[in-house]
Amino acid sequence: MALGASGIAGLSGAALATPQTPTSAAGASANSIRVPIPYGAAVRVDALTSDASYRAAVIANCQIVVPEGEMKWPDIHPARGEYRFEKADVLMDFARQNNIEVRGHTLAWYGGMPAWTAAIGSRAEAERELVGHIETVVSRYRGAIPSWDVVNEPLVDWPEDESSLRPSIWTSRLGPDYLPIALRAAAAADPDTRLVLNEYDVEFRGARFAARRKALVRLLRSLRDRDVPLHAVGLQAHLFADRAIDRDGLQELLVEIATLKLDVLITELDVIDYGLPGKVGERDALVADMAGQFLGAVCDVVRPRAILTWGLSDRYTWVPTYFKRIDGMPNRPLPLDAELKRKPLFDVIEQYRRNTV
Ligand code: XIL
Repeated sequence: MALGASGIAGLSGAALATPQTPTSAAGASANSIRVPIPYGAAVRVDALTSDASYRAAVIANCQIVVPEGEMKWPDIHPARGEYRFEKADVLMDFARQNNIEVRGHTLAWYGGMPAWTAAIGSRAEAERELVGHIETVVSRYRGAIPSWDVVNEPLVDWPEDESSLRPSIWTSRLGPDYLPIALRAAAAADPDTRLVLNEYDVEFRGARFAARRKALVRLLRSLRDRDVPLHAVGLQAHLFADRAIDRDGLQELLVEIATLKLDVLITELDVIDYGLPGKVGERDALVADMAGQFLGAVCDVVRPRAILTWGLSDRYTWVPTYFKRIDGMPNRPLPLDAELKRKPLFDVIEQYRRNTV
């Protein structure tokens, strides 16, 4: 069943007709809303093409898709002046045919940059390349991608303050100005798309995560003070099962975000299970519990505009590339197992989406 009607922004169709009663300082709580929060997943275009059962599962379960890699620089802009849109276009066609929304990911990131970008020399050249890339990619899909991760992972692991930006070709050539440059270029290329700053490691207990929350708020405020266009914060939510969710810290962050009149999206939820017991039933329950703690903390304070997981099925997940289990058992970070069967994680996401917790 494709549920394409509700829309990422939650502003189309039934969502508009549903009265929203603000019940907390941070805005409407999930309790006042009856339309489910749209669910989506990162997808792999090659697998969508080659694997019919996976494709069917995406159609059946996702109202939103986001390309796991096919809109990143190496795929879409592999050489200077050369753009390759084939795979991104396949995804756009797939989504259109199945009434699924597409989120764009990502435009200004330190990671996974094609080798040619290392030769970007001057400040002027960097600005030209960054703006040119964003203009070209965002305007190609103008009107068809209602939400873009413009800035991805801007902060260093343990930031001192908002100026602790993760080193990249952009920080080295443009300094902190790369953020307003990217966001303004995206706004100019598609004035109707929602501009998202996406960040990770902000939900856990511990000094490093508290420092990240503080720096993120300061970064958001500094952008607001400079009138930089930005609509939402994406919480990636790669949850590490061996860490604890800092409910109070996370909720304080969300209140700050809401005070800045920014929306919240959960953009890349998965539970990294490399430290968990091998037994599948036990592991799946702990994974779902971790996600439930996170979603519970979030949905108590704000209604996320969307909940996306970073992959739909354990058949296709980035987790083993970086976080392989030492016992050699396959990772199980996602809502569907490798046979595309629903796991407890699927159910817990459904409960929060539908507010039936
Ligand atoms: C990952 C993809 O899943 C991998 O396939 C790719 O090789 C590297 O990037 N945060 C992000 C995503 O914002 O873009 C990352 O995706 C996962 C972490």
